Amino acid sequence: MNRTPVAANTQPKSKSTILRKIGVLTSGGDAPGMNAAIRAVVRTAMSEKLLAVGISHGYKGLINKEFTPMFGYSVADIIHRGGTILKTSRCPEFKTDEGIDTAYQNLVDEGIDALVVIGGDGTFRGALALHKRHPDIRIVGLPGTIDNDLYGTDFTIGYDTAINTVVDAVDKIRDTAGSHGMLFFVEVMGRDAGFIALNSGIATGSEKILIPETQTDIDNLIDKLQYDQRKQKTWGIIIVAEGEQMGGASKVASLVKEKLPDYETRVTILGHIQRGGTPSCADRVLASRLGYESIKALLDGADCMMMGSINGKIVRVPFEKATKHHQQINPEMLEVARVLSL
Ligand code: ADP
Ligand code: F6P
Repeated sequence: MNRTPVAANTQPKSKSTILRKIGVLTSGGDAPGMNAAIRAVVRTAMSEKLLAVGISHGYKGLINKEFTPMFGYSVADIIHRGGTILKTSRCPEFKTDEGIDTAYQNLVDEGIDALVVIGGDGTFRGALALHKRHPDIRIVGLPGTIDNDLYGTDFTIGYDTAINTVVDAVDKIRDTAGSHGMLFFVEVMGRDAGFIALNSGIATGSEKILIPETQTDIDNLIDKLQYDQRKQKTWGIIIVAEGEQMGGASKVASLVKEKLPDYETRVTILGHIQRGGTPSCADRVLASRLGYESIKALLDGADCMMMGSINGKIVRVPFEKATKHHQQINPEMLEVARVLSL
């Protein structure tokens, strides 16, 4: 392991658009479709006569020199698999100058001219931090996160699969809720974002959807449940995003139980089943298009850009924008959810 510190930016190099060898890594939370993205990056690189190197365990592998040459056959039979064959990690060391300088030196030693990083906003912040100290390594990114919270793309890789996993699980829970007359509080992922909750909540006809972006109105929820109770409807589904402001499904369920003790309540936390599993067709196609575009963008000289999809068109969005702005919840969707759950 080479841990010799490298002075940052002491010898500014002219930015070269000549590309010989690219590195690809996955970082942060895994998401279904990451393998399809890796496959697209490697195969497009091959078709452009570039060398490709897989970097294992995200930024940790960059620091620890976990490099493996990749070829077309290295990515055979992975398009349908969840998780990431390159593995992933959260790497606090990459948030230090020393970690970044070690990673840079390893890239230089390996002869890697450019990186394709696949992950969420943290991953892009890491890319920007590397770029700031060592601008001669060019970096482009693919949005890989189930949260769908990145500005500059309508959909992130993994989101479609995750919401379908939630819908499948909630449909099953609803069978039990109806059979027993129980009220379920189902917690879904989304520490800072309510996209999974809102869309899966609408798709499953949930009685209420609670998300981090809006203030939870517990009195309004109690009123609605009292109204349902008067009509003899004691079962249902309340979808709660994990980042909901009262503290998540368990907290909301206990507040409801306090006020309405006759309700038979249950809490289900779906957890990491939402991150795994076979990627949907939509995620595989999105990952393939964005992975292809990442190599084309590098060949065009792009740097610090995320590949995204807006209204079906592939776009290139600066990392600064993708990380600074949070993808906004569409107010029309909130209204649809409100009206349909009356
Ligand atoms: P995600 O990419 O899914 O949002 P994280 O927020 O955990 O996941 O970020 C992934 C990794 O990116 C972190 O573990 C860290 O190594 C790196 N990273 C995040 N923010 C920064 C930063 N400000 N500077 C350097 N590296 C960062
Ligand atoms: O991948 C994003 C995410 O699913 C968030 O919604 C969630 O809060 C987080 O990852 C949890 O990840 P971990 O268990 O890896 O810390």
